[in-house]
Amino acid sequence: MKIFIDTANIEHIREINSWGILSGVTTNPTLCAREGREFRSVIKEITEIVDGPISAEVVSFDKEGMLKEAHELSKIAENVIIKIPITPEGLAATKALSSERIQVNMTLVFSVNQALLAARAGASYASIFLGRLDDIGHDGISILSDIVTAYENYGITTEIIAASIRHPMHVTEVALTGVDIATIPYKVIKTMAKHPLTDKGIDRFLEDWNKLNKLISTKK
Ligand code: E4P
Repeated sequence: MKIFIDTANIEHIREINSWGILSGVTTNPTLCAREGREFRSVIKEITEIVDGPISAEVVSFDKEGMLKEAHELSKIAENVIIKIPITPEGLAATKALSSERIQVNMTLVFSVNQALLAARAGASYASIFLGRLDDIGHDGISILSDIVTAYENYGITTEIIAASIRHPMHVTEVALTGVDIATIPYKVIKTMAKHPLTDKGIDRFLEDWNKLNKLISTKK
């Protein structure tokens, strides 16, 4: 499972990218607004840091507007992926872009049926929003797992992104579904690296090492 970071924060992207575990970045209008900077320059900076797909979202509702934005965004860098919401207009825009070989991440996908349409329209990625499904009392993981199965049934090559991940257990659960990619918030990635037994183990090793050094120096 590839790991993407779900943020538009440059410092966070730099830090996690330095771990060598990042395969891409997803952003959305909310995440970009949080940074309070001009959207395109943020996307440009991210493409210079991470060598992988960087999703930038359109905000138009109509196909023509989406296409116009998509063409402008795809000029920023080769690794910019156009994020388009799954609506009838979004599907039509995705079809047009995929025939121009511009890659689309179809976003706000909440059901198997929507995921099937995204694939037929030619989306390279489909983002399934787990946390938001859980928020309204649905079982996000089980819907994600059904989408993985449906794609496998037909050899669909659209990559599934588990999105709207809220906590470390989500990551473990999505990994067990066989999903291609998990896009994870900074705070959750940081938590993934932590374990109390790792900290305890390091303390113990250091303690024993110091004891040995003390013993050796008293024998001299
Ligand atoms: C994914 O592409 C979205 O940016 C993101 O995962 C949404 O997460 P949220 O539901 O926590 O806002």
